[in-house]
Amino acid sequence: MSLLDDIQAIRAAATEALGTIDLAETLEEWRIKYLGSKGLVKSAMQRLKEAPREEKPALGKAANQLKVALTEAFEAHKSKLRAALAGGKKKTKAKLDVTLPGNRPKIGHAHIISQTVSEICEICARMGFEVAYGPEVEDELHNFIALNIPESHPARDPLDNFYLYPGAMLRSQTSTVQIRVMENTTPPVRIIAPGRVYRPDTVDATHSFMFHQVEGLYVDEGVTMADLKTTLDQFCKAYFGPEVETRFRPSFFPFTEPSAEIDVLFHYDDGSTRWIELGGCGMVDPNVLQAVNYDPEKYTGFAFGLGIERMVMRRHNIPDIRYLFESDVRFLHQF
Ligand code: DAH
Repeated sequence: MSLLDDIQAIRAAATEALGTIDLAETLEEWRIKYLGSKGLVKSAMQRLKEAPREEKPALGKAANQLKVALTEAFEAHKSKLRAALAGGKKKTKAKLDVTLPGNRPKIGHAHIISQTVSEICEICARMGFEVAYGPEVEDELHNFIALNIPESHPARDPLDNFYLYPGAMLRSQTSTVQIRVMENTTPPVRIIAPGRVYRPDTVDATHSFMFHQVEGLYVDEGVTMADLKTTLDQFCKAYFGPEVETRFRPSFFPFTEPSAEIDVLFHYDDGSTRWIELGGCGMVDPNVLQAVNYDPEKYTGFAFGLGIERMVMRRHNIPDIRYLFESDVRFLHQF
């Protein structure tokens, strides 16, 4: 290969290599390889001496042009890299727009049932009720016996309850907390007790093997049915809105006498109305007071037990109780 060919080859290779360089370190390697004191340009220059005399002027010119061309290309590329670096910095700054909204972490929130329990507690607190809790694993004394529910009562059928072992069961109602509170308190007693209850019901749109109730109990001297009706009516108006109407239907529960069921009248968009049952209530049966050593001649009281899912489903127009327990966040996120 002649020196002239070499010079052209060096120029082509150097130019091509330079085009791909985007790092200062690689650019320096390139400079040493081609323009360094032991570089290819230098060695081409040195080979000039061996060239035939008549070719020397042309070769010398070509070698010089190579040196000038590569030096210029090097300087130009260096400036280009610098500019790109500076521009790049500007671009990164522009990307960091601190006024953009950013990624909000998805933090959860209380389940609609829990939110409702809090709201119920708040409404009742305004009427002077304290919040009480009882265990979900209960004995028959608190779930049945002290509540005046005889052995023969259908509610005590083992097939209608979740027994863990003889004598221990998952509570089927929050009325158990009435007994637990009265056992440890001297009247007056004014409590509500929200919580889970369990019954082996077949699951469908309105039934679940586990649901929530809120129990209410007020025992003092001179408590009457008028207090019960006023309290529940006020409670329903506070939760559902001042326009709702309530009605009390005679009923029977072993632990209250007289007993009633409380219904709330809802107005629908199409103009129709419907009474919805919220739960049971009544005046505490003297047998219950006696079971906790309260003097029934001195004290009277009222009690109520409302279904929390019913309230939630009515207020939020939820057609199926299963939505509340299936933990689909797309549904739960609405509340
Ligand atoms: N414990 C009853 C039930 O689960 C509801 C109930 C009715 C509670 C009347 C009461 C009451 O406190 O007075 O069906």
